[in-house]
This record gives sequence, C-alpha cells and structure tokens, in this order.
Amino acid sequence: MPADFDTIVNLAKNRGFVFQSSEIYGGLRSAYDYGPLGVALLRNVKDLWWRSMVQTRDDIVGIDSAVIQSPKVWEASGHLSSFSDPLVECTNCNARHRLDKLDDPNQCPTCGMRDTFTEPKDFNLMFETHMGPVASADNAVYLRPATAQGIFINFENIRRTARMKLPFGIAQIGKSFRNEITPGQFVFRTREFEQMEMEFFCHPDESAKWLDYWLNERRRWYEDLGMTADNLRLRAHDADELSHYSAGTYDVEYKFPWGWDELEGIANRTDFDLSAHARLSGKDLTYFDAEADERFFPHVIEPAAGATRTTFAFLIDAYGEEEVRGETRVVLKLDKRLAPNKVAVLPLSKKPELVEITQRVAGPLREKWDIEVDVTQSIGKRYRRQDEIGTPYCVTVDFDSLEDQQVTVRDRDTMAQDRVPIEGLMRHLDDKLAG
Ligand code: GAP
Repeated sequence: MPADFDTIVNLAKNRGFVFQSSEIYGGLRSAYDYGPLGVALLRNVKDLWWRSMVQTRDDIVGIDSAVIQSPKVWEASGHLSSFSDPLVECTNCNARHRLDKLDDPNQCPTCGMRDTFTEPKDFNLMFETHMGPVASADNAVYLRPATAQGIFINFENIRRTARMKLPFGIAQIGKSFRNEITPGQFVFRTREFEQMEMEFFCHPDESAKWLDYWLNERRRWYEDLGMTADNLRLRAHDADELSHYSAGTYDVEYKFPWGWDELEGIANRTDFDLSAHARLSGKDLTYFDAEADERFFPHVIEPAAGATRTTFAFLIDAYGEEEVRGETRVVLKLDKRLAPNKVAVLPLSKKPELVEITQRVAGPLREKWDIEVDVTQSIGKRYRRQDEIGTPYCVTVDFDSLEDQQVTVRDRDTMAQDRVPIEGLMRHLDDKLAG
C-alpha cells in the first residue's frame, strides 16, 4: 500500500524526525528542523552518499566550500541573469504561483478564479543579503542556490593539490538556499535545504559515456539502499525544461504520494561553467593532457541530489502497515545502514537489578552504534514504537538474564526472537547489522 502523505508527515513530526521551523512562533513555511531521529537519518543518508562517491573511490575527492561567494561567481555561472522561475499573481486573491507548476495555467488554485493571472515575470530565486555594516548595491552578496559553483571555482586548486588526472570528480555536501515561489510538500521543496553534488570532469569526447555511467550508478545507489525499484525511474528533460547550463539532463524520479517527482538531476554541463569562470576571472582553467599533448576545457557530468529530499523519500518508501494478530503494526523497513538507531535495549522492569545489567549490556553497544535504552511502558508498546522508527533490533533484558546471562534479540522485520548470551551479543549484532 503506498504511504499516505499526511500519515508520513504526522509520523515525522510525532516521533521527532522533523519539526516545523520556528514552530512556537507559528512556524516558518520555508524551513524545517531535524529532531533526534531525523538528524540521525539525514546524517546516515549523507554518510552513505559520501562513502559511495568519495571514500570508496580513488577518482573523486571532497570539498566543503563557502555558502557566501563573490557575486562574480553568480555573474559567470549565469545565476544572476537566468536562475529564475515564472511568477504569476492572481489579481483576485493576490496569491502568487509558479506558472510552470500549475495544473491549469489559467486557473488560480487558491481561489479557483479563471483568467485572473498577471503576465508572468521572471523571479530570481537567489537570496540576497549584504556584506558588512552598510547595505548598498555595491556590497550585495548571495546565499548559494546550489553547491556546484564552489566546486568549479576550486577546480584548479584541487587538480593541482590533489594531483588529479582526468577523468576525476569533486564532491560536496552542504546547505543551499532558494527563494522558492511555492515551497511545499513538507521537506520536498523548502527555501533552505541540503544538497549532495558531484562534478565529474572528463574529456569532451567521453561525456556521453560518463553520463550513461552516472545514470546507472546513481539509480543503483538508491536501489542498493532498499528503495523500491518500481518507485524509481529516469526521465529525460524536454528541451524547454533544460537549465541554462545544460546540454542534456535526466531526473531520477521517485513516485511520491502526489505522483512522480524529482529526486536528483543528472546533467551534462559541458564546459559551460569552467569556460565562463575562465572568461570572467581571466584565470586559465583549461586542463593539459601531457600524454596527448592537448589542452582543453574538461566537460562535466553532474549528479546533483537533495539530501533532505532523499531522506524524505527513504522515509516514505520504508513506511509499511501490517496486520499482526488482529492489530495494525506500523513498521519503517529502513535499510539497516539508514536506520537512525541500530539497536534498542529494553529492560523488562525498572527494578534496580535490571538497571545494572541493562547498563552493562548497553555500554559496549553505545560505543559502536546509535542505540536507545527505553524503560517506559509495556514491552509490546515499546516494540511497536521501535518498529515505527525503524530500529532493526531490540534487545530485551529480563529477570532470567540475571541467571543465565542471556538476552532476547528481536528482529524488526520478521519479529523472530533469539536468545543470545550477553558475552557474544556484540558479535551477534555485528553480523546481523552487516548482513
Ligand atoms: N547544481 C545543479 C542543481 O542544483 P537542481 O536539479 O536544481 O540541480 C539538485 O537541484 C537537487 O537538489 C534536486 O534534484 C533536489 O533533490 C534538490 N533540491 C533542489 N531544490 C530544492 C528545494 N527547494 N528543496 C529541497 N530540495 C531541493
């Protein structure tokens, strides 16, 4: 059964994954705060992306560039002139909409009136602020709308210091900001969000090959982490959808509760960015291939994913409801690598003798994994809560544990229970979590 949007949003809010930003002041629609479970899930998504894109490869290196960059960066990249969406305003109710996202371009979805829109105008999505104590046109700066340009402007620094040879990539995870006309669908489209982007530099003759490679590789990443293959597809952009820098883009799309929508964009950016920065900065950003005795601007394939959007998609995809002995069990079947907590330790009672042994069981586990010790409510309710937040294993400490030095390990997915000696518990869980 596909997850219902409101159900997921309620679970995210009630279990401490995601809260509305500034909630005590009525909330700010543009941004969200990640609670204890949400921050762990988001961090796991980012770590697993970094592991697959940087740590396990010798052809990609990382960077963490500044959010605020010289305005010249955005002049060269074309963002100042072209990073805009078509804005229309309803003359009846004053609601503002993004024209290209409307089901019917002549009807206002807020008040229902027809033919009440103003002429569309290009609305630039960059957040503008000022550097220094006096705000003037001369010191306008922008919050980056994507992490990519911080990579392009460091191309030569990184090539030289990390001694990279083509083809090679530079990866970055970080916050981006867009003054979206219509943020919405919970954390799907927000004005402050996190991206995971990689720019892969290659010889111009090889860009088609690498585009193909990254389309496959990125799809495989989602599937490897348990995302349902039938809920994923690749869609080529039509010519009129292409960003100003792109010679061809595919979206990795996910079947969200409201329909297919973008998870990640994979674009062939050609030499658009490097040559534009070379022109405006006057710096040589070409690459010299000594073997071929050839100098050229590398072309770029860019897989650009949203960390916060991807986290939301994993949450939706993992959600399930099952009938167990006449009751509905809600279970988040997150891949074990993604699960916020790997283990929950549940003493059957709060009696002091169980508290002591529980601490002895939990201590070494805590050194290795994110775990939770939960002593409240009945054991059945505690299992249900752990299922709902996707904890792969529950370890129950009972009064028999005092005698036989064993605990019960319960599997989230099968609900099977094994009795395991405390002494071998780490190894037992290690095998299970790795498997
Ligand atoms: N550098 C290329 C670039 O930024 P994009 O398709 O505009 O490409 C890449 O953005 C990804 O960033 C998107 O596929 C999406 O996952 C995420 N993203 C973009 N805008 C977002 C927003 N307003 N809120 C949340 N995620 C967003």
